Amino acid sequence: MAVGNDVVLRVEGISKTLSGKPILDHCTLEVRRGELKVLIGPSGAGKSTLLQCIDCLIPPDSGDIWLEGEKLDPHNTRKLCAFRAQVGMIFQDFNLFDHLSAEENVAIALRKVRGLSKKEAKDRALEELGRVGLARRALLYPAQLSGGQKQRVAIARALAMDPKVILLDEPTSALDPELVGEVLAVIRDLARGGMTMIMATHQMDFARALANEILFMERGKIIEQGAPETLLAEGSNTRTRDFCTRLLEMGE
Ligand SMILES: Nc1ncnc2c1ncn2[C@@H]1O[C@H](COP(=O)(O)OP(=O)(O)OP(=O)(O)O)[C@@H](O)[C@H]1O
Ligand SMILES: [Mg+2]
Repeated sequence: MAVGNDVVLRVEGISKTLSGKPILDHCTLEVRRGELKVLIGPSGAGKSTLLQCIDCLIPPDSGDIWLEGEKLDPHNTRKLCAFRAQVGMIFQDFNLFDHLSAEENVAIALRKVRGLSKKEAKDRALEELGRVGLARRALLYPAQLSGGQKQRVAIARALAMDPKVILLDEPTSALDPELVGEVLAVIRDLARGGMTMIMATHQMDFARALANEILFMERGKIIEQGAPETLLAEGSNTRTRDFCTRLLEMGE
């Protein structure tokens, strides 16, 4: 994996209270170019909220976010849009436009945000769909695609924007078990190709094999952080290892 020293994304001291309840408590992390950081932790720990705060879909109450050294000013709408265009977001439930074909789902932001012509956007969309193994499905609509195919369209859509970093929120947890592998294979290829990513997941074999670091979250805090081989080492007395053992016992 091509890991450089340069920090692509830095998130410092992000806190968030929702309905009077503290959900995130001073979360700090950074991702260097080409790194994959995997966010794990029990349900309700705050993983989705953290990823959405990083993209300012949920505005954090406090804390700072830097992209390639530039601090985000979430009140500057133009800069926020520019920031979002450089940060890909993949959700559990795909978030595709149902009335658009796979190709149009990928092309629409290229036209509306990047200002590409119809032809340019279509060519780029086809190229990205090819990259996720869906070149022959370009004209199909979401209702005609499997869950795994839909998630791959969502990944192609993110890739088409040339993101500096991609945030993935449990990208395989809505899929039937037999479809998980095809989506993980695409993400694995992106990681090997040097894409910078933060991914919340319960897929521990994937995390163990590919993550540069695991971040373990509990009750809104990142309480452990380290290389998978360290946090998951046999005999290591970490919350991460304890959590994974329990996941295995539950048959996940
Ligand atoms: N709008 C909201 N108002 C109040 N509480 C909320 C709101 N959104 C989320 N929460 C709470 O925030 C906590 C963190 O939720 P979040 O979805 O970030 O957890 P998660 O780690 O992603 O869990 P999962 O593994 O189930 O996806 C939960 O306790 C949830 O109930
Ligand atoms: Mg979640």
